[in-house]
Amino acid sequence: MNSPIAITLSSFKGGVGKTTSSICLATLCSEHGKTLLIDSDPNRSASMWARQGNLPFQTATEITAHKLTSKERFDFLIIDTPARPTEDDLQELIESCHLLIIPVTPDAMSIDALGTMAKKLPKDSNFRILLNMIPPPPQKDGQETYQLLREMGYPVLDRGIRFYKAYKNAAAYGKPIYKVQGGKIAWRDWTELVKTQPLQSLLS
Ligand SMILES: Nc1ncnc2c1ncn2[C@@H]1O[C@H](COP(=O)(O)OP(=O)(O)OP(=O)(O)O)[C@@H](O)[C@H]1O
Ligand SMILES: [Mg+2]
Repeated sequence: MNSPIAITLSSFKGGVGKTTSSICLATLCSEHGKTLLIDSDPNRSASMWARQGNLPFQTATEITAHKLTSKERFDFLIIDTPARPTEDDLQELIESCHLLIIPVTPDAMSIDALGTMAKKLPKDSNFRILLNMIPPPPQKDGQETYQLLREMGYPVLDRGIRFYKAYKNAAAYGKPIYKVQGGKIAWRDWTELVKTQPLQSLLS
């Protein structure tokens, strides 16, 4: 029996979109196989989003996940985590997943926090940066940050996620992003993101 593909979302900085990205990635994965979102943030933001039962995947906490995964077979595990993991947490996170995704927003504080985190990642970690909350044109912050991160040698995913109000509404109504007003256009970023490597290989 194949073990599930596990993708973890983590960042040193809070509020960069770990939970939002976890929900969107789990929604995408659910189109490819049975998916469990593990909410290991004590704030339980992902669990609150899922509470109304409108999401196309199951959720568990880090406490209940073990019981569930020993009874049911999942193809994908998406793991949402609290901000500021310790070095030990990071080691464990990296060892227990196929891919670590670090959401970064196009601002100096987020990029600084990425620098601090990257130094603490174990050597040969399989991680990617997800550029999130890219402001609309004519602002160039998204493209500039993408280029800066590439120049700094970071493995940035080739598609980023634009800033849309629909994300806040999706969380408030407990729905997938494409089910709220203005969400279909926002969702396009995710369907494009999964065409990029290594996500395409992991999800196929
Ligand atoms: N692409 C986006 N466009 C607009 N708003 C976004 C986007 N991604 C996330 N947000 C909003 O930013 C806020 C923080 O997002 P989220 O809760 O996912 O971050 P987080 O990294 O999980 O935070 P925490 O560290 O507190 O767990 C939320 O209000 C969310 O709706
Ligand atoms: Mg969160």
